[in-house]
Amino acid sequence: MVHVIFFFLTLVTYVSTLDACPKCGSMEVPYPLSTSDNCGDPRYRVFCNNDILQFVSAQGFYYKIISIHPSAYKLVISPSLIPKNTCYSSDLSQGGFRIDDDSPFNISTHNTVMLFNCSENILTSPLNCSSNSLCRQFEEKVEEGSGCRGTLCCHFLKDSSMTSRRIRVRVGGCTAYSSVVDLKPGYSTDSWNYGIELQWVPPN
Ligand SMILES: *[C@@H]1O[C@H](CO)[C@@H](O)[C@H](O)[C@H]1NC(C)=O
Ligand SMILES: *[C@@H]1O[C@H](CO)[C@@H](O)[C@H](O)[C@H]1NC(C)=O
Ligand SMILES: *[C@@H]1O[C@H](CO)[C@@H](O)[C@H](O)[C@H]1NC(C)=O
Repeated sequence: MVHVIFFFLTLVTYVSTLDACPKCGSMEVPYPLSTSDNCGDPRYRVFCNNDILQFVSAQGFYYKIISIHPSAYKLVISPSLIPKNTCYSSDLSQGGFRIDDDSPFNISTHNTVMLFNCSENILTSPLNCSSNSLCRQFEEKVEEGSGCRGTLCCHFLKDSSMTSRRIRVRVGGCTAYSSVVDLKPGYSTDSWNYGIELQWVPPN
């Protein structure tokens, strides 16, 4: 009996170590994230390109994964950049960030999203587009936002009342965005934690 239990314990340990993917560069790739068909759970696909771990959107745009919190089923990706002296996000031609409807990932409710260079139509939305909106601080104090200075901009907490699968930008709407995870009011832009926090449904 003891031998049988020992056998199963060994088997379980063996299977779970087999299932975790190898590190990508210096980053651990915890289960269920999967960088290849041979490890992790293939439904939780991420990509290891040149030692950089990346998440791919529904439109095929790659975003760097900057942190992973497996026990909370969360990871944080870097928002696409706004190239210097422009007010266009790099993923503008893809319509911004979007996750497939059947993906186990969605955008968590901890993201404060800022939209830039918006058309006037945005003012009918419930977003905060006032002159003291947080997006103004990004335009004025952060190098990346300087190309958006003076444009109509807004911020909002991406909560559960909104779609959790996309951050939309488009020509004629808003053309750039950024996002901050767990933004605490009153903290300076220096301490903002730029990123888009995603969560995943745990595998069963
Ligand atoms: C907009 O955001 C700023 C900064 O967080 C806040 O001080 C202000 O009260 C908000 N305005 C509205 C209308 O919610
Ligand atoms: C803002 O967006 C419009 C299109 O919606 C574009 O023509 C304009 O160049 C953009 N402004 C900046 C500063 O990028
Ligand atoms: C996002 O996924 C989590 C589980 O990972 C789920 O609890 C939550 O309801 C989802 N949010 C939306 C708005 O679908």
